[in-house]
Amino acid sequence: MKQKVIVYKKVPAEVLAMLEKDYEVVYFERLDESNQADFLAELKNAHALLGADLPVNEELLNAAPQLKIVSNISVGYDNLDLPAMTERGVMATNTPDVLNDTTADTIFGLLLSAGRRLPELDQYVKTGKWKGSVEEEMFGFDVHHKILGIIGMGGIGGAIAKRAHLGFDMKILYHNRSRNEEAEKKYGAVYCGLDELLAKSDYVCLMTPLTPQTERMIGEREFNLMKPTAIFINGSRGKTIDEQALIHALQQQKIAAAGLDVFEQEPVNPDNPLLGMKNVVTLPHIGSATAETRTAMSRMAAESVIAALEGKCPPRILNEGAYKGS
Ligand code: DGY
Repeated sequence: MKQKVIVYKKVPAEVLAMLEKDYEVVYFERLDESNQADFLAELKNAHALLGADLPVNEELLNAAPQLKIVSNISVGYDNLDLPAMTERGVMATNTPDVLNDTTADTIFGLLLSAGRRLPELDQYVKTGKWKGSVEEEMFGFDVHHKILGIIGMGGIGGAIAKRAHLGFDMKILYHNRSRNEEAEKKYGAVYCGLDELLAKSDYVCLMTPLTPQTERMIGEREFNLMKPTAIFINGSRGKTIDEQALIHALQQQKIAAAGLDVFEQEPVNPDNPLLGMKNVVTLPHIGSATAETRTAMSRMAAESVIAALEGKCPPRILNEGAYKGS
């Protein structure tokens, strides 16, 4: 009997075809209340799960006793309970690197938009408010030659540093669990403590993965350390910051503006005060969302499923202890 793969996110036809060659594929373009019961029924004898963001916890694992692999179509894997998966021999994989440039482009777009007030001025033009030459109250902040502080200097952080240094002559400070020698050598990035980075940066860009250690790492104390002209960009996860503290910091003009691709609750609550602030640029968690990159990520995630179901250790395994050999 063929092994069963549940795909729970929309993926290109070519990726489905890769899997359908040798496996039974059950396809849910998205999971919601209407298909929850069907999904749970399929889980009972599923060998692989392919998608993004589904919380894979004890409860799900108990409902999926045949599961061998959960392959995330994302670099982030905060939805996966790795210790519980390892204990049951369920492998976990993600899709690093392939999305670095695309996500860095998004973050740079946010940075430029928040700094130069692009969405606000777009509305100014489109709503007929442009009556004469633009004066000081519409001016933005320079980006070039400013100080960019990057918290979380992994692959995406490095791609942001590259754009900032080579394209915009920015000076780069960074804070990370370990030193990133490539970013230091190629982009002149200077390693420093978090407080120093917050105090000195004109743009603070948060790119760290969400872990128990990074949850709410930026809160009232950290916003108070930033310059009143600082622009805060969050490209990591909503829960890496205290969102209420960000709202207060903006309301009290402790910082100048923010650019956000992620929120504590997603999709964001329409009543969230951040949505009513002109100096906040928002995106619907689209860091890696281009057709090319999402296709490449889906393909990479499917390759991990195939490797695992063939009894191999998938190259991007996150919990090697779960691999039991072929
Ligand atoms: C990622 O790949 O982790 C992006 O944030 C999309 O979820």
